[in-house]
Amino acid sequence: MGLLDGKVVIVTGAGRGIGRGEALECATQGAAVVVAEFDQDAGDTVVKEIDELGGRAVAVSGDVADEAVADTLVQTAVAEFGGLDALVNNAGILRDRTIAKLDADDWDAVVRVHLRGHFLPTRAAVRYWREQQRPGHVVHTSSTSGLLGNFGQANYGAAKAGIAAFSTILAMEGARAGITSNAIVPTAMTRMTYDLMPAEFKARREAAIERGEFDFFAPENIAPLVAFLCSDASAHISGKVFGVQGDSIEIFQPFTSVAEITNGGRRWDPEDIPGRIDELFSGTGVDAAAENMMQRMRYQILDM
Ligand SMILES: NC(=O)c1ccc[n+]([C@@H]2O[C@H](COP(=O)([O-])OP(=O)(O)OC[C@H]3O[C@@H](n4cnc5c(N)ncnc54)[C@H](O)[C@@H]3O)[C@@H](O)[C@H]2O)c1
Repeated sequence: MGLLDGKVVIVTGAGRGIGRGEALECATQGAAVVVAEFDQDAGDTVVKEIDELGGRAVAVSGDVADEAVADTLVQTAVAEFGGLDALVNNAGILRDRTIAKLDADDWDAVVRVHLRGHFLPTRAAVRYWREQQRPGHVVHTSSTSGLLGNFGQANYGAAKAGIAAFSTILAMEGARAGITSNAIVPTAMTRMTYDLMPAEFKARREAAIERGEFDFFAPENIAPLVAFLCSDASAHISGKVFGVQGDSIEIFQPFTSVAEITNGGRRWDPEDIPGRIDELFSGTGVDAAAENMMQRMRYQILDM
């Protein structure tokens, strides 16, 4: 018996990295899986791996930010496996540059894959669930780069923060129909992050793997939480953002107002603001200057 026995799950970007781990775990938990992947060979390989595990899977090759491909994912789930229970939006790319050096094309490419690539498969799934009057679960993939900001990732971070907002709004819109929507913020060593990791950290990780220790940064570590969020066991949880890495599952609080100044029922005079504004910062832990918010991450790569 698995958490997803008899269920049907779509995983986008499932050909490698975190998405591959999610597809394999969902299949292990009993789901039939639609492996949505831009790279056909990578997608076919994961389908073969699932077959070898005794599971059921089918590959759909294409760009998930394309409307026809997104619709085909849901049509394939229904045609091949008789329905759809959960969607995992995972596909993503990076084009890192500081804002001054960032090409508009690299802005568009990243925003397109992440935001449109989350929106279109979600819309197709939600339309199907509404037509069928069935509940459903959607898991979205955000990032600390979006929630905390990360130097050189304005396009990616803006898209990932947008994904967290998109997930919250879907949770509100889907609540009465039993559609849940949650976002994960993963950290793992994959093709996407390999070049960004310091050499010293990579050497330390490889040595730990050789010693047979738990590989905290294995992409497969993300999958158990995602399988749970795809299952009916999580039906009471929606609109939440979970950090996930290694053996750790965290909950993020959304942007929350932590202090207020008021002006006695009158519109502010701009000249009065400089004398009062620091009241918002004193005692709140919020720094008035630009902060390296990534320091708020619970796990710093070089501490591991
Ligand atoms: N690895 C991390 O530490 C980390 C951290 C935060 C967020 N994420 C997010 O997790 C997700 C998976 O990342 P990963 O690290 O496994 O990367 P990865 O590059 O290993 O895998 C991403 C997969 O998505 C596929 N893909 C990309 N664009 C696509 C598209 N338009 N249509 C279909 N498939 C497409 C790629 O071909 C690839 O197989 C991404 O959304 C990424 O932004 C990863």
